Amino acid sequence: MIIGCLISGRGSNLEAILRAIERGTLTASVRIVISNRPDVPGLHHATSRAIETAVVRPADYADREDYDRALAQRLRTAGVDTVVLAGFDRIVTSALLHQFPNRVVNIHPALLPAFPGLHAQRQALQHGARITGVTVHLVDEQVDHGPILGQIAVAVREDDTEATLAARILEEEHRLFPAVLQRMADGRLHIDGRRVQGGLP
Ligand code: GAR
Repeated sequence: MIIGCLISGRGSNLEAILRAIERGTLTASVRIVISNRPDVPGLHHATSRAIETAVVRPADYADREDYDRALAQRLRTAGVDTVVLAGFDRIVTSALLHQFPNRVVNIHPALLPAFPGLHAQRQALQHGARITGVTVHLVDEQVDHGPILGQIAVAVREDDTEATLAARILEEEHRLFPAVLQRMADGRLHIDGRRVQGGLP
């Protein structure tokens, strides 16, 4: 499986994926890492391993579709077959999705369909949820919506702040994302509408 990663910032999920590959628990390679923002820390996880990086700035494109066509072009040129959104803070359109059908994967820090969109951990706290977690899912045209490939629950503690809750969820993100990608690499995931056979747990 040849992965292209899209990031916007810290890149800790990218780092978890790269470490899983180095440990041999994920049989894949990351061929290119693209950020929509310049100089983000996540890019260093790639450059320090001599993985190709690119910054593709939305301001240089007329609209979302135009931008996504440029992303798809870069990913295709790099030989990517699977696109991993690892903390990518943009909505992607069919201009990208049609190029990689059922091969664009996202991670979200909540148990979807609860708390989609921004600040999922804050939403969970404000709602008074006792359980939240992490979801890895295929991306479709709606935000945080596509078929669910894997989830892990995380209990909310009464003394949690947004930061402490996000940190515990992040630990599970780093476990779940490489594990789900390995299932994809093994061809063990079978998509039937919204239902997925072979997902996690
Ligand atoms: C992660 O918590 C990820 O789940 C979240 O952004 C963070 C990125 O961290 N993504 C979303 O909220 C997408 N809706 P990272 O850059 O360290 O991987």
